[in-house]
Amino acid sequence: MTRQHHRHAFALVFILLLVTVAPAPAEDKKDSNDQQDEPPKPVKVYMGRRVAQTMHWLGAEWLIRQRREREERASVMLANLGVKSGMTVCDLGCGNGFHTLKLAAMVGKKGRVLGVDIQKPMLDMLMKRAKQYDIENITPVLGLTYDPKLKPGSCDIILLVDVYHEFDQPEPMLKAMRKALNRTGRLVLVEFRMEDPDVPIKLLHKMSKPQIAKELTANGYKLVRQYDKLPWQHMMFFERDDSPTKAVKLIPWQKPKDDQKESK
Ligand SMILES: C[S@@+](CC[C@H](N)C(=O)[O-])C[C@H]1O[C@@H](n2cnc3c(N)ncnc32)[C@H](O)[C@@H]1O
Repeated sequence: MTRQHHRHAFALVFILLLVTVAPAPAEDKKDSNDQQDEPPKPVKVYMGRRVAQTMHWLGAEWLIRQRREREERASVMLANLGVKSGMTVCDLGCGNGFHTLKLAAMVGKKGRVLGVDIQKPMLDMLMKRAKQYDIENITPVLGLTYDPKLKPGSCDIILLVDVYHEFDQPEPMLKAMRKALNRTGRLVLVEFRMEDPDVPIKLLHKMSKPQIAKELTANGYKLVRQYDKLPWQHMMFFERDDSPTKAVKLIPWQKPKDDQKESK
């Protein structure tokens, strides 16, 4: 090899190195919540709705209270979620894992549940409980208020029980969750019914069906299903607006006559 050949080879290696370690172009950065220079600003009101305060981890015992199944029929909610063995399900805002543990059994050994929360003590409690029950298919994920730290296209289902109304950066969260869903993945909101005065929860922690639909459709989602038979909560299923599923019309909530006694 001549000296000139050596020089050419050296230049080529140098260029290749530059290409490998060079930072991503500015356009890629814009799209990732991870790499933004400044975190997005929290909001107090979103689309006419007051955002609720985050439930503190010191109150976590309330989430696993014995009477919760009777009050909310969580088993009925989970049975209607569409979970299949082998799926990746994200329990977003999982708290100490009331639903996460049950979801782990539903997806089976080949599936995985991602438990995301912004409070580390909640995740510690979740994993302590998982260990008690020998559950090994839960991955705890410490999210940020504007970034759930989920991989693009990684989720079949993202479940949010009594969580969405606490987001103080709803738009970045909705954007990030949309990205984390696969093409037919579903985002499922379970929220206490604003329309129902018999649901004994503070107004700030309730949401109406039209308000939920308004916020989600404004952020690239479409309503594909609604389950209206839980005693206290709405259960609304959304997909990305570019999914192959047809959107459904919102059915306004009405108190079923024969249910009136049951939910009191
Ligand atoms: C009322 S608790 C509900 C916990 C659980 N989903 C359940 O039903 O038992 C709300 C949880 O959402 C979490 N949370 C609030 N904002 C969040 C966000 N942006 N990302 C992830 N978790 C969040 C809170 O830390 C809290 O643990």
